[in-house]
Amino acid sequence: MESMEKLSKVNIVYTNKLNEKILKKENVLVIYDQFLNHFPDVKKFISKYTNYPVDAGEELKNIEHFAGHIKNILNLTAEFSVSDMTILAIGGGTVGDFSGFVASVFKRGVKLIHVPSTWLSAIDSAHGGKTALNVPPSKNQIGTFYQAQKIIIIKELLFSQPPERSFDALGELLKILLLCGTQSKWAQFFKNKIKNKNQLLWDNLPWAISSKYKIVKKDPFEKSGLRQILNLGHTLGHVLELEWSMSHGVAVQQGLCFALNWSLQNKLMTKKTHHLIFDVFTKFEIHQKLDQISLKNTESILLKDKKNLGNSKVNFIFLKSFGKVIREPVKISDLVIEMRRQGYKFT
Ligand SMILES: NC(=O)c1ccc[n+]([C@@H]2O[C@H](COP(=O)([O-])OP(=O)(O)OC[C@H]3O[C@@H](n4cnc5c(N)ncnc54)[C@H](O)[C@@H]3O)[C@@H](O)[C@H]2O)c1
Repeated sequence: MESMEKLSKVNIVYTNKLNEKILKKENVLVIYDQFLNHFPDVKKFISKYTNYPVDAGEELKNIEHFAGHIKNILNLTAEFSVSDMTILAIGGGTVGDFSGFVASVFKRGVKLIHVPSTWLSAIDSAHGGKTALNVPPSKNQIGTFYQAQKIIIIKELLFSQPPERSFDALGELLKILLLCGTQSKWAQFFKNKIKNKNQLLWDNLPWAISSKYKIVKKDPFEKSGLRQILNLGHTLGHVLELEWSMSHGVAVQQGLCFALNWSLQNKLMTKKTHHLIFDVFTKFEIHQKLDQISLKNTESILLKDKKNLGNSKVNFIFLKSFGKVIREPVKISDLVIEMRRQGYKFT
């Protein structure tokens, strides 16, 4: 709670390289994605700290492994001063969600710093203070609001990612543009030929991050519901992420296509706006995949959605036009009918 009150003081640092001047060595535990051992600079940096390597991925967030992780972390930090302890999380969204949760509950809360290593985490998940664990088969059922004191964005680390990671993050970037941008910003943004997605993401990172904070600050604990608009594309996105084992970012792209098509179908969005948006999706090779999906699992995942209102209804985020959203309760059965209409094949 206290950490979220510090939202206005979040410190975002942009730097080229990961270096030891970032913070002191004592009482710091680095929780990091061990894939990053491939990067000599990161490996060298981490070796100077007490560190806890983890495998990135949804399994890291699985609550069933949590007690084991905490026992390991207790052993590693036995000599630490708790009042001065900091967890430095280096990795993508799964490492950030996991480490944030650890920081919020370990000895009733220790300081937290994020070093996002994927575009998705740099644009989205490292900001806003949501932490999460999964209770299989559902995602993010356990969590806290716990804002990091600092988020350090390292250009070299982000640019080292393969193309699939930048493609992943496009969904979250497009989402924030639809939520907070204007038609002219949309047109301007995509006017030029797309040469380098890394550069495109980097150039738009500060705007995307500050746009997210503007929404989060109005409803830091998701009490008024305003913050829920950030879930545009996520209702179906989470279903597909679980059912089709898609990356979070690609599933959100799919969820966005569905939400925008439904907005058009419900006559909330004009054909012209729909066209403008999908032109850009096509340019980025974002296409709706309409494979088979289990009806039973779809309904059961939707029932566990955090936007579930009871009575088999969820709050769904529709888009009217750029910067104009409508949050509306929909019946899960109507969502399923719309999925069928759009071409999903239920088994
Ligand atoms: N807390 C929030 O507000 C929030 C918001 C959005 C998403 N999320 C969560 O974030 C997670 C998805 O994030 P993610 O896609 O970053 O997942 P991730 O942490 O699993 O990373 C994806 C992959 O990228 C690899 N990777 C990490 N850094 C790399 C680098 N520099 N170069 C190459 N590969 C690298 C990882 O090893 C992993 O294989 C999901 O669990 C989602 O629920 C949370």
